[in-house]
Amino acid sequence: MTEPEKDQASLRQEIHRLNKIITSLMDRAEREANKQSGTYGLFQDAVMLENQVRRRTVELESALRENERINRDLTREREEQRKLINKLEDAHNQLLQSEKLASIGQLAAGVAHEVNNPIGFVNSNLDMLKSYVEQLLALHDQYAQYEADLPPEAIAQLNTYKHNIDIDYLRTDIVTLVNESIDGVARVRRIVQDLRDFSRPGNSEWQTTDIHTCIDSTLNVVWNEIKFKAEVIRKYGTLPPIECLPSQLNQVFLNLLVNAVQAIPEWGTIIIQTSVEQEQVVITVGDNGVGIDENIISHIFDPFFTTKPVGKGTGLGLSVTYGIIEKHGGHIEVDSIPGKGSTFIIHLPIKRACVAP
Ligand SMILES: Nc1ncnc2c1ncn2[C@@H]1O[C@H](COP(=O)(O)OP(=O)(O)OP(=O)(O)O)[C@@H](O)[C@H]1O
Ligand SMILES: [Mg+2]
Repeated sequence: MTEPEKDQASLRQEIHRLNKIITSLMDRAEREANKQSGTYGLFQDAVMLENQVRRRTVELESALRENERINRDLTREREEQRKLINKLEDAHNQLLQSEKLASIGQLAAGVAHEVNNPIGFVNSNLDMLKSYVEQLLALHDQYAQYEADLPPEAIAQLNTYKHNIDIDYLRTDIVTLVNESIDGVARVRRIVQDLRDFSRPGNSEWQTTDIHTCIDSTLNVVWNEIKFKAEVIRKYGTLPPIECLPSQLNQVFLNLLVNAVQAIPEWGTIIIQTSVEQEQVVITVGDNGVGIDENIISHIFDPFFTTKPVGKGTGLGLSVTYGIIEKHGGHIEVDSIPGKGSTFIIHLPIKRACVAP
């Protein structure tokens, strides 16, 4: 029991005790008055005492009411304090997150820069290799046409050689290998590009743009991935054009949309909603996919955090997104119910203000 509650309880006891005294005194006074109607003094004493007790009771009752009021004020104050502490915790977490991103960003920028060059030439070499392989295979086909004209022992030798290297398998596999390598390198390039954007999302220009155009063009880009998995519902409000880095916001929408699609097991709905709230544009991307477990939700914006199988996700999408939104002076949060779906909510200032360089 808290102190004010204890005070209140003891006041109540006191009132109760005094009331009992009054009642017994009144009874006694009445009895005495009846017994000795001549002796009026005792009755007068009793009446005086009763008045005193009544006054005291009134005082005590008002003290009790005051106590209750103080108690209510204290409860309200405690509630406000709790809210303030929560806000402080949020701010602290946001700060930690941006510090973490900043230091990983520096590291990532260095690695991305180093990896970018070799990946560049491996990529162009692979393209050349693919065309050389195609040409050599075509040449091989040409030779094959004249094979029948060769002396029988030469044909036999060639056939042994072909058998040893399993030429049919080699011909199909070589093409597969080259194509897979090109895909793999493209994936690495995308990761490197993401890493660079994440660490230094700054190569595009600030422009005053219509956010709906950005969302629509991004939807076009990912339409192939979405169309077999989800119905997209656009609930667009009336938005003013906002000052932003459009190509980077495209990337934000791309990351959120791809995540939404990937969270939907078979068929689902993705809802994109926009509105204006207190000088800020609010964009939400919601899905009715698998949702996010409570124990991982605080990590989803961390770089390289992923729950997807190797090769499917790098875990960079949301950390890149977080960095871009922060650069715009906005913030992003997530609401999710495991098994029901997730909604990402972005707040962006309409005017470019207080933005990091
Ligand atoms: N809409 C969503 N529904 C459910 N889980 C999500 C959703 N969006 C993100 N997540 C969770 O957050 C994790 C991190 O997402 P993030 O986009 O950063 O990386 P990723 O999608 O795993 O990989 P990448 O985007 O780099 O290909 C995901 O692996 C997933 O567990
Ligand atoms: Mg992702």
